[in-house]
Amino acid sequence: MQTDPALKDFADQVREQIARTADTRALEALRVQLFGRRGKLTEWLKQLGKLPPQARRERGETLNHLRDELTAALQTRATALAQAELERRLAAERLDVTLPGRGESTGSLHPVSRTIRRIERLFGAMGFAAVAGPEIEDDWHNFEALNIPAWHPARAMQDTFYVLDGRRLLRTHTSPVQVRTMQRQAPPIRIICPGRVYRRDFDRTHSPMFHQVEGLYVAEDVSLADLKYDLQRFLSLFFEREVEAMFRPSYFPFVEPGADVHIRWGERWLEVLGCGVVHPNVLQAVGIDPQRYSGYAFGMGVERLAMLRYGVDDLRRFFDNDLRFLEQFV
Ligand code: PHE
Repeated sequence: MQTDPALKDFADQVREQIARTADTRALEALRVQLFGRRGKLTEWLKQLGKLPPQARRERGETLNHLRDELTAALQTRATALAQAELERRLAAERLDVTLPGRGESTGSLHPVSRTIRRIERLFGAMGFAAVAGPEIEDDWHNFEALNIPAWHPARAMQDTFYVLDGRRLLRTHTSPVQVRTMQRQAPPIRIICPGRVYRRDFDRTHSPMFHQVEGLYVAEDVSLADLKYDLQRFLSLFFEREVEAMFRPSYFPFVEPGADVHIRWGERWLEVLGCGVVHPNVLQAVGIDPQRYSGYAFGMGVERLAMLRYGVDDLRRFFDNDLRFLEQFV
């Protein structure tokens, strides 16, 4: 049937072209060249009608065969190219889900926050509720109600930051929260008050802003013995060992008797908190009858406790915001 050598050459050429096409778009262009409205084979098929009957039959048969063959060849090539293209895409977009992740760095609590939470948890288990108070205080709550009148030399113990209006100040300790709580609530009272306090102080063990946790227990028959027992218990829980504590008499105007608590740290005794039995004047100032009720109070420095627990030797590190330091406490 391949009688026409020109047609045979053409067919060979097209087969080769089909085999050489590199992508589906080139293949489609080739298909249009052959079978499109102006396509080579389309033209030839159209011209069949002009041939005499015998020649038309023969050439028609040949052309039909060629058309079928080339159509099949195009189809096969199209499938192969599509498959190859899919494979290339899959390889390019390959994602190895078994690779280890790059890791997310999660934040963590600041060591001071962790220490406060730890203190809250331990005292919480002992029946103390945590309460908060304002950091900008008035003279009455920070001093006066705590038995520190204006002329009292104890005011010089604390270098106070005053707000510009001269009436208000940044609280120098968390003790005013004792006062506010007792004004609000009748005994029995068992609270701790963690929070920021401010003093004009700056060296390796002092920062102008630091944290304290105040404690207050007011009920009938609260004594110094209760104070010693509870603090001893807290300190041992906090440091996770039997801590040796020494109560050394000290003076705070709002307690009587008052004490500093020192704990044994190797060869040394380190002061960790102040405490005492609530002074009757303080109870009176907030309208609690000192004949009926008594209480104890304490105040501890959070950074001091955190320094000991974590072995940090400069309190200012807590406030440098150096991640290399902070990330150690994750
Ligand atoms: N408020 C005292 C201080 O800041 C600590 C303290 C609290 C002492 C309660 C005794 C009782 O130093």
